[in-house]
Amino acid sequence: MTFDLVLVGFGHVAQRFVTLLDETRETLARDFDVSTRVVAVTTHRHGRAYAAGGVAPQALVECHRRGEAIGRDDLDLSTSDFIRASADRGGAAKEGHLVVVETTTLDIAKGQPAIDHVRAALASGAHVITANKGPAAFAYHALAGAAADAGRRFLFEGAVMDGIPIFNLVRETLPAVRIDGFRGVVNSTTNYMLTAMEGGQTFDRALAEMQAAGIAEADASLDTDGWDAAAKTAALANVMLDARLTPHDVDRQGITAATGPQAVAARRAGRRLKLVAAAARQNGRVAARVAPEELPADDLLARLEGQQNAIVLRTDLVGEVAIVQRGSGLTQTAYALLSDLVAIAREISARSDARRARV
Ligand SMILES: NC(=O)c1ccc[n+]([C@@H]2O[C@H](COP(=O)([O-])OP(=O)(O)OC[C@H]3O[C@@H](n4cnc5c(N)ncnc54)[C@H](OP(=O)(O)O)[C@@H]3O)[C@@H](O)[C@H]2O)c1
Repeated sequence: MTFDLVLVGFGHVAQRFVTLLDETRETLARDFDVSTRVVAVTTHRHGRAYAAGGVAPQALVECHRRGEAIGRDDLDLSTSDFIRASADRGGAAKEGHLVVVETTTLDIAKGQPAIDHVRAALASGAHVITANKGPAAFAYHALAGAAADAGRRFLFEGAVMDGIPIFNLVRETLPAVRIDGFRGVVNSTTNYMLTAMEGGQTFDRALAEMQAAGIAEADASLDTDGWDAAAKTAALANVMLDARLTPHDVDRQGITAATGPQAVAARRAGRRLKLVAAAARQNGRVAARVAPEELPADDLLARLEGQQNAIVLRTDLVGEVAIVQRGSGLTQTAYALLSDLVAIAREISARSDARRARV
């Protein structure tokens, strides 16, 4: 099946996603019968492009890298209107083969306008895949409901652990298991910075390295102030603990230049300072927090170096389940989008197999 893709946001993640689609084209076709065509791309300040037969994404990547506009299509429309117009122009939405790929910047105030983008896409008959934490962190239940009503998928595997499966893991492999809580290190930038500061690196230098690598958020205070981790914690809690949290409900403390000497002192004492994110059911509600914690050296989270992340789930039937992300980066995040796309393709195939079997 061929998916028409509408790319909403065309920064680091979306550009890596389109090159990854190119690199995996043969595998996707051979193993999953999936091919893709990018029919529309929109940015905030770098213009828009639309072509029913498909745009040339690689040429747009080159344009964007040169700082040039990628096109001038529909400049008077809001992004949500552009999504609706793009969906209306082809027949893919009706067939369930249109996918909106939402990779705009995280807004920590309200998760907007990404939530509106997801709503517009679902209402137009598109599936949505996103690496943006905002929608699941602020509006998971409402958007999951809108997707179910529309008969479409709303998937966000890349929002928390890049390409390492966490939502997939629970959804696909832990049926009937109740998650009672989790703790983890979920922000690569601050874990890299804490590791570097333990070795004598300055706060500013360590942060600059993460910005240069495209790993830090566009507004890096979202990482250092703990907002990114709080958004991931809210998203995980909403999905896995059936909570109704936003990042503002997470008790939050980030890291500063003053955290460096604390990390050095902890290391000298045989311990590690980590920015720990945790949530658990307590007295009928879900309590969540993000804060630097000094951990004993044998704690799994204490052993995470550089950009590594990990989440330990506490479950009722299988005890603790830990997943560790040893490498992170744009390829992993782009892969998460690709895995969401394959999940949609598999579901469509399974449904049509079931329909054929009934006939
Ligand atoms: N980078 C990572 O490793 C990583 C990992 C996991 C998750 N994420 C999440 O993935 C998302 C994208 O990250 P990124 O690194 O690709 O960010 P980025 O490089 O800053 O790109 C963001 C893109 O969104 C566009 N945009 C912003 N507001 C928009 C709007 N209202 N309408 C249309 N387009 C809009 C920007 O337009 P312009 O091009 O005109 O600026 C840009 O193309 C973020 O939510 C981030 O938190 C990133």
